[in-house]
Amino acid sequence: MHSSQSTILAVATQKGGTGKSTTAVNLAHAFALSGKKILVVDMDPQGNASNSLGFKTKDQGISIADLIWDKSVPVQSAINKRTGMDVIIANTNLARVERGMLTMVNSELRLAQRLREVRSAYDYIIIDSTPSYGPLLNSVLNVADQLVVPVDSNYFALMGIQKLLGEVEEIRITNPAINVLGYLMTMVDRTIICSQTTEAVIQNFGAATFDTKIRRSVAFREAPTLGQTVFEYAPGSAAAGDYSKLSVEIEGRIRALRAQAPSTIGGAL
Ligand SMILES: Nc1ncnc2c1ncn2[C@@H]1O[C@H](COP(=O)(O)OP(=O)(O)OP(=O)(O)O)[C@@H](O)[C@H]1O
Ligand SMILES: [Mg+2]
Repeated sequence: MHSSQSTILAVATQKGGTGKSTTAVNLAHAFALSGKKILVVDMDPQGNASNSLGFKTKDQGISIADLIWDKSVPVQSAINKRTGMDVIIANTNLARVERGMLTMVNSELRLAQRLREVRSAYDYIIIDSTPSYGPLLNSVLNVADQLVVPVDSNYFALMGIQKLLGEVEEIRITNPAINVLGYLMTMVDRTIICSQTTEAVIQNFGAATFDTKIRRSVAFREAPTLGQTVFEYAPGSAAAGDYSKLSVEIEGRIRALRAQAPSTIGGAL
C-alpha cells in the first residue's frame, strides 16, 4: 500500500535523556498497531533506537551513515524489516560521517534527498535525532514535516527549547513546511517538581503541549534491553497505553492541520 500523504515526523530536542529514542520507537509501534506503514530512521550515532528495536549496531550492516555519505548506495539496501516496521539503523559511523559533512556541499540536504526516494511507501517516517547541534540535527530539521519535542517533566530547559525554535526558523529557508507539532511531557510522576514543570511548559507553549503525558515506568528501561517496544514487553500496560494515546492525538493534530492547509502539510518534498 502506498500512501499519498506520508508524514516525516522527527523526535527532537537539544537536551539529552528526555525520552527522544523511547518516544521514536514506541510511537512508531503504536502507529504500526493501528495499521500504519512505518519506517524508523535512527539519526543518532549512539544507535539507541536501533538497539531498542533489537538491531545490533556493532554489526556493520548498511546504516544511515552510508546513505548520507554515498549517494550510490540504494536506500532499499539499508532497510531492515522488523515486526511492525522497517528500520534504518545508525551506528558510530554516523559520528565520522558528521565530521565529513562539515566539508561536503549541501550535506545537510542529503538525508532529505535520500528519504524522498522511499517516503511514498510509508504513512510515517519517524526519525530519532541526536541531542547535539550540528549537521546531523540540521539534516533532521531539513527533512521533517513535523517535530515532536519531548520535555523531561523533572527539568524544563526553556533556553534550550528556544534555541531549537531559533534553528527551526532558520531551517524554514530550506524546509518551509517544518512545523512544531507539540511538546510532550515525559517521565511524568506525582512529584511537585513534575507538576511545576508541566505548568511552566503549558504557560510557555499553551495548547501546543500534548494532552497526552508519558508517565514514568520501569518498562521503558527494561523493554529496550530485550530489543522490544513496550507493546511487546508489556502489552496492555500504562506505558503502552500512553504511547497509543499519543499516536491518536498526533493523528488528530495532523488531520486538523491538513484540513487547514492541505497543500503544505506533508508530501511537500
Ligand atoms: N517515561 C519514562 N519512564 C521511565 N524511564 C524512561 C521514560 N522515558 C525514557 N526513559 C528512560 O530514560 C532514559 C533516557 O531516555 P531516552 O534514551 O529515550 O532519551 P533520549 O532523549 O533519546 O536520550 P539521548 O539524548 O541520549 O538520545 C532511558 O534509560 C529510558 O529508558
Ligand atoms: Mg536518544
